[in-house]
Amino acid sequence: MIDHHIFVCTNQKSEVGDEVAKAIKKELKLQGLKTFVAGGQKAHNRVQTCNCLDLCKQCKKGPGAAIVVYPEGIFYGNVRPKDAERLVHEHLGKGRLLNDLLLDN
Ligand code: FES
Repeated sequence: MIDHHIFVCTNQKSEVGDEVAKAIKKELKLQGLKTFVAGGQKAHNRVQTCNCLDLCKQCKKGPGAAIVVYPEGIFYGNVRPKDAERLVHEHLGKGRLLNDLLLDN
């Protein structure tokens, strides 16, 4: 298990971006994936809002926010607060990508 850093764009849609970041943070706590021990090592998953991920075209589409998950560098678009539960469970917990939100970039 590795540390993840998730950046959520709040540049064009500060409201939904902030809500998405909040929802992901809440899910990390609920699912016990904020700080945890895996393979004898402490791991952290962190969420931060940011200004622009250079995906502005995606931010203009749909009601959601653009996000990027590092270290994989996976970009998702149109992410809404309701997607936080499966993002944390699937991507961070199981290493499975959310194909319906995935951006080619
Ligand atoms: S405004 Fe969201 S990526 Fe640029």
